[in-house]
Amino acid sequence: MTDISSSLPGLKEVFEDDFRIGAALNLDQIYGRDHEGLAIVVKHFNSISPENILKWEEVHPEPDRYDFEAADRYVALGEKHNMQIIGHCLVWFFQTPDWVFVDKSGKPLGREALLERMRDHIFTVVGRYKGRIHGWDVVNEAIMMDGSLRKCGWLDIIGEDYLVKAFEYAREADPDAELYYNEYDTEHPIKREALIRLIRRLQDSGVRVDGIGTQGHWFLDYPPIADVEKTIVEISQLKIPQMITELDVGVLPFYPVDSKMVDLSAFDPKTQKKYNPYPDGLPDAVQKKLAERYSELFATFLKHRDKISRVTFWGVHDKQAWRSYLPIRGRADYPLLFDRQCQPKPALGAVIKTALSRETG
Ligand code: GLA
Repeated sequence: MTDISSSLPGLKEVFEDDFRIGAALNLDQIYGRDHEGLAIVVKHFNSISPENILKWEEVHPEPDRYDFEAADRYVALGEKHNMQIIGHCLVWFFQTPDWVFVDKSGKPLGREALLERMRDHIFTVVGRYKGRIHGWDVVNEAIMMDGSLRKCGWLDIIGEDYLVKAFEYAREADPDAELYYNEYDTEHPIKREALIRLIRRLQDSGVRVDGIGTQGHWFLDYPPIADVEKTIVEISQLKIPQMITELDVGVLPFYPVDSKMVDLSAFDPKTQKKYNPYPDGLPDAVQKKLAERYSELFATFLKHRDKISRVTFWGVHDKQAWRSYLPIRGRADYPLLFDRQCQPKPALGAVIKTALSRETG
């Protein structure tokens, strides 16, 4: 059973004149073990992102050890299918090992030593795929909800110009790669304004930022579509391309992300049901709401197709959706266009219909 046999057109054909359409790949897809998932990727997408394998902790797990096995395969896969290959991500507060910020005796590194470590990492990773990876998320998630820069090892030790340095090193490592800043919750005015100020500051320091990524980890009712649109319009003031980089629509109740990650089984049965209402499948009514939500999102992206260069889903099918294990482990979420059996959901049809029935002219 694969979607290949279905009569639906590929998303990449449907959006050919609008923007690239991408998906984040996991190890099973990169290694070709998830045959059906891979068939979906080949049919529907013309851009790929690595879900985890190019994050610091995966590609550079120890000071003197890089592990490029999966990343080499990922890049070869993209080349084989003539896809745009994205790198994610170079400098982030998360999924970065603790050793990065300390010396051999466990003492915090000084500014120069950490800059050197950052430069080595960027040169080694970006350099290895020079001319093959089209664009990199250079810095991920540097801004807090109150508009301040996130406290993290990079900021504490290097200072605010860690972002400038990261972009400079990446530019030097591959002058032809596109370099992006990637962020979530940009629908919140304070965070969005901080983002725009930050990019302007980078530009004033002589840094060329080639694109802004809005992650797009959204919900059925949140954020309101008007806020999604406002974000696209406001970011376009920067006059550089923007991308929706990690799109998915969670159907489960929100659980405060900043609280500690928990296991579903840690809750009493009533709370379990509240936070995991669809353990055995998505009811038709919710399936329909998901399709409607995707339809309004893509109608908005199409309306602003002149500002958007790529829309990437964070995953191929629901079986791999991170939202089923973060921030609560053990839930069943349904955020993507293909279900756990790799079959198209009504949301896929809705996205295609939105594209094909758009108003032209
Ligand atoms: C962030 C990161 C991604 C991924 C998602 C979901 O948005 O940018 O790499 O980790 O969270 O976990």
